[in-house]
Parts: sequence; C-alpha cells; structure tokens
Amino acid sequence: MTIMQVAAEIDALAEVFRKEGVKSFLEIGSKFGGSLERLASAMPVGSRVVSVDLPRGTRAWPQSEAELKATVSKLRLKGYDTHLIWGDSTAPDVIAQVRALGPFDAVFIDANHTTPYLWKDWENYGSIGKIVAFHDIAWHRAPDWKEGVRIDVPEFWHVIKFARKRVEEFRFCPTGKNNGIGVLWRS
Ligand SMILES: C[S@@+](CC[C@H](N)C(=O)[O-])C[C@H]1O[C@@H](n2cnc3c(N)ncnc32)[C@H](O)[C@@H]1O
Repeated sequence: MTIMQVAAEIDALAEVFRKEGVKSFLEIGSKFGGSLERLASAMPVGSRVVSVDLPRGTRAWPQSEAELKATVSKLRLKGYDTHLIWGDSTAPDVIAQVRALGPFDAVFIDANHTTPYLWKDWENYGSIGKIVAFHDIAWHRAPDWKEGVRIDVPEFWHVIKFARKRVEEFRFCPTGKNNGIGVLWRS
C-alpha cells in the first residue's frame, strides 16, 4: 500500500476516528488508496467508505488507478460498504453522487490544494461531515518557490479554523515544513 502521509500524523487522525466512533467516511483525493485504507481500518467493519479521485489527474496515474481499485476491492471483501467515484470533486454530478451517500461522520480533504478548490471542497463536502480534516496544513516554502504546484492549505486552514470550538493539529514532520493534518469539529 502506497501512502502519502507522515505515519504519525495519519495514525493520530485514525485515533480521532476511533475515539469519535466514526462509521461513515468520505475522502476527497485518495491517489493510491493509502490513507483510505489506513483510516478505514480505524472504523468498524460494515462502515461506509467513499472515495473521490480525478482520473488521469496527476502523475503515476496507471499505478494509482490500479492501486486505488485494488484497495477498494480489498475493503469491500473485508465487509466495508465502499464506493469509488471517479471525477472532479467540484463537478455537479460528482457532488450529487457523494451527497446521495452522505452525510458522513468524517471527511478528509486531500485533493487539489489550491485556494479555489479548497473553498469549493469545503463548501460542498465540509457541510456534510461532522469532523472535517485537511492534509498539508504545515506545508511551507519560500514565497518565490516555483518548482511545483501550489499548496495553499496553510493559509486556508488558518482562516477556517478561526473561532471553531474544537480543532486539533498534527504536525509531526521532522523537517517542520511538510504535511500536517488539521481536524475541526463542525458542532
Ligand atoms: C495527495 S494525493 C492524495 C493522497 C492520499 N490521500 C493519501 O494520503 O494516500 C491527491 C489526489 O487528489 C486527486 N485530485 C486532485 N484534484 C482533484 C479534483 N479536482 N477532484 C478529485 N480528485 C482530485 C489527485 O488525482 C490525487 O490522486
């Protein structure tokens, strides 16, 4: 299983799932299925697991498509009520398919990390989750960094966590400038 996470951070989120008794989980952005499988393992068998990912959206598509499909099959065999929705998370038909399977005890948003998408995913899916988590809240580069795609999660997270009754942050990357998971409780 390929997972794109700092192990201690995803383990901490899995522990939140366990403590909160999460039985329905939506992940926006699953890539190889690593975090999907890790978080599902913190939920009772029979729980609902829904994954949304963009076909051909990112590098390593042939590998990620095969691995994600295999992860979903494995979860189904274990007895999880698992659904895989291919498409852009902001597309109306994708939103409708997800909403038909919701609401969710927990939502993990780890797809397009730029500001417009973060706001859309938060509006479309944050509203149907009791607990909402984001990846890459601790990502940090110099302002003139031009080597890769933008990651706007830290600024976004700083705004939406404001004035929440309950928030937890897991920032365990050894360099201090990568990854990080933020979790908020909507009520
Ligand atoms: C960082 S990876 C997810 C990693 C995974 N959560 C893990 O930790 O193992 C981001 C994924 O989001 C998907 N993605 C990017 N933009 C998307 C969009 N607009 N709609 C749906 N999925 C998207 C990409 O295809 C990619 O597989």
